[in-house]
Amino acid sequence: MDFLTLFAIYVVVVLTCIVLVCKYSGQQQTPFSIVFNCVAKVVSPLTPKWLQKLSQRSLHRLFHQRNNMFIYLHVLLEAAVYAEFTYEVFGFCREMDTTVTSLSVPYVLLAVKTFFFYLCIKRDPGTVTKKKVGGQLHIYPYDRRLFHPGVSCPTCQLVKPARSKHCRVCNRCVQRFDHHCVWVNNCIGAQNTRYFLLYLFSVCAMAGDIAVLTGDMLLHAVLRSGLLSASYIDDQGQQQPAGPLFVVQHLFLTFPRIIFMLGFLVFVFFLLAGYALFHSYLALVNQTSNEWYKSRGYVCQHCHPTATADQLCNPSPDHSKRYYYSRGLLRNLGEIFFPLQPVRKKDN
Ligand SMILES: *[C@@H]1O[C@H](CO)[C@@H](O)[C@H](O)[C@H]1NC(C)=O
Ligand SMILES: [Zn+2]
Ligand SMILES: [Zn+2]
Repeated sequence: MDFLTLFAIYVVVVLTCIVLVCKYSGQQQTPFSIVFNCVAKVVSPLTPKWLQKLSQRSLHRLFHQRNNMFIYLHVLLEAAVYAEFTYEVFGFCREMDTTVTSLSVPYVLLAVKTFFFYLCIKRDPGTVTKKKVGGQLHIYPYDRRLFHPGVSCPTCQLVKPARSKHCRVCNRCVQRFDHHCVWVNNCIGAQNTRYFLLYLFSVCAMAGDIAVLTGDMLLHAVLRSGLLSASYIDDQGQQQPAGPLFVVQHLFLTFPRIIFMLGFLVFVFFLLAGYALFHSYLALVNQTSNEWYKSRGYVCQHCHPTATADQLCNPSPDHSKRYYYSRGLLRNLGEIFFPLQPVRKKDN
């Protein structure tokens, strides 16, 4: 197979991964899990019982119990990228007179990101507790559409406040529940959605900035090598100009680690940028991922006259407005950054 085909396959695979992850993130039945289940079914009769049990248990521990695995993985990937950047790209850039100021931006971003990452991990997302539930019940009114009054959580044995949800991984109810994020090993809820948003944006900025610096470095390397005006002698003994294919091949062979890192960064950037935009959109319309996901299944009799009874939302005068909770973009954002606190009961 020639190099260009291989390269095209590489690009297609990366793009397909991005599209698939964007499309299916947050859903229960992802193509990945379907494929995984099929493979498991085929492989399981061939593997010994103890191995099956072990793998099941470790999978369970990895995805259905709180654990720091993904935090370690996150730090490891980050360390790899920064090591590569510091040891290879930094030196090249210095030689090409990139200013120290622009080369230190990635490190500043790393510090900022780490700060928000830490807050995401450490901050209580808004756990519903016996002590606080009285006040938490009054933060949001029940909409009688997705959240109904008087429903208790069977596990926590507490009345569920509106917009809350029980997190099965953490085994607690969380107020204004968004989702459980394995990368920070914590739920994203009322009290840490703001840090989560800032974290997403700082990771994007980090990946984007390093990718731009690296791209710039590669561009300079190509210009400097004179490859663009070079030529070679082909099989027939004719002189041929070295085309772009030649340049790409040269880069791959000369800087394999840097090219690999750049590919990874571009992938992470587009993935997280999409995710960050989705979460910003949710923040702007006063919705959580949980509500967005739940309300997609809802249809209105006005829009779907043939819908069955259990598919119907409660008739509401505002049914035509999809986001009838939104009180304006700024106020919605304000509520993310200054979350409503549980109402304290006055002691008389
Ligand atoms: C957000 O929606 C909730 C209902 O889900 C509502 O009680 C609250 O007032 C809304 N906040 C804003 C700022 O619109
Ligand atoms: Zn619960
Ligand atoms: Zn959780």
